[in-house]
Amino acid sequence: MCNVVDFNTDEYHYKLPVIYGTFCEKAINISQLRENTGFITFDPGFKNTGITKSSISFIDGEKGILLYRGYPIEDIINKCSFIETSYLILNGELPDTAQLNFFSEKIKKFHHIHKDIKKILYNIPNFYHPMGILSSLTYILDAFIQCLQEEDLYLHLLAKLPILAALTYRKKIGVPPSHADRNLDYISNLLKMFFSIPNQSYEQNPIISDALNKILILHADHEQNCSTTTVRLLGSAHSGLFSSISAGISALWGRLHGGANQAVIEMLETIFKNGGNVNKWIEKAKNKKDPFRLMGFGHRIYKNFDPRAKIAKKVAENVIQQLGISDPILDLAKNLEENALKDSYFVEKKLYPNIDFYSGIIYQAIGFPKDMFTVMFALGRLPGWMAHWKEMKLNREPIGRPRQIYIGYKKRNIKK
Ligand code: ACO
Repeated sequence: MCNVVDFNTDEYHYKLPVIYGTFCEKAINISQLRENTGFITFDPGFKNTGITKSSISFIDGEKGILLYRGYPIEDIINKCSFIETSYLILNGELPDTAQLNFFSEKIKKFHHIHKDIKKILYNIPNFYHPMGILSSLTYILDAFIQCLQEEDLYLHLLAKLPILAALTYRKKIGVPPSHADRNLDYISNLLKMFFSIPNQSYEQNPIISDALNKILILHADHEQNCSTTTVRLLGSAHSGLFSSISAGISALWGRLHGGANQAVIEMLETIFKNGGNVNKWIEKAKNKKDPFRLMGFGHRIYKNFDPRAKIAKKVAENVIQQLGISDPILDLAKNLEENALKDSYFVEKKLYPNIDFYSGIIYQAIGFPKDMFTVMFALGRLPGWMAHWKEMKLNREPIGRPRQIYIGYKKRNIKK
């Protein structure tokens, strides 16, 4: 293993230090490069730039590996609940029984929303997208929580974001709020707050709870994606936790990121309505003159199967089969996947289905409307965002401030 890399030009001979990660991933530390040589590095989209050292999650995109705090995602899915996973991601270790009880009970204690926040929510027009509502109200929450302990802020957010999501949904369909129940676990509460019918007791369906638990675990963290890095960047300027998370929600909303789960279902429905000829749409996605892309395909890091997509596909198949739903969209999705994976364009560019390809089908089977899919993703990603914000703060990371290459006018004077 080398410790330095030579940077040689006619003018400079400079040695750049190399740093290594747990799995020998290597990085050239260029932080002093400009000071010593005048050069900066150029990497639009941060395609090859590490912005931090992190111990939260690890991805090997070539091998299709994802670890949360060292545990493989396949192991976590089979052995943990979403709330245990949230604890693991936030605190670094899985909780014992007492720690888990304390964590869960404290979240339940914060399971309420100030009446003035409800008033604000009820004054937002129904046509506005729930992700815009969630982002705005997460920001506003800050004004209503007086909390001395930083650890409690994380639990407030874990408690309150599902309430905001459920209230947004119920208000839109014209149903009064359903309150959290202290006897229920996190996932059961979430489902009750969304789907209980007024004046009727809510019957939990274990098939649905299991599917929701699994899909939220799959979303829980994913190292430096667009929304997580947004959260870290805001935090690095010493912005508060709530405003940083609010910005993360806004970043996730984008259709190239978490918003892809809504876009995938809309795309599949369009293909279905137009006769279901998947090859025609694959050709369209390959045509560089056509802006259409296969939504739910491709990933910056995975150049092999996204391990989350493999699990999500199984969860989608199970939930649909166990609930006895016949969903032609699932069949269409499988057909599209099969054909795209045989196509030389997708093979050569290493474009595989990502988590968003099947997650919308799961949310739809559970009963969430399309505009709630990305909100559910945000609820799943919340522990990851908070863990990164916390890690960034503990590391005392400097303010995030990239450089640029200026290509505008040279200095000129106003002629008047
Ligand atoms: N359909 C067709 N072609 C694609 C697709 C796609 N879904 N994705 C990438 N490509 C092509 C690009 O046109 C490009 O081709 P070129 O080299 O001939 O120019 C090549 O593959 C590389 O793609 P980039 O856009 O440069 O890759 P990047 O890493 O910047 O983008 C992204 C990754 C945004 C995920 C992209 O694959 C995409 O737009 N996918 C569809 C949206 C999507 O599913 N987003 C969810 C991602 S997962 C998540 O955020 C939770």
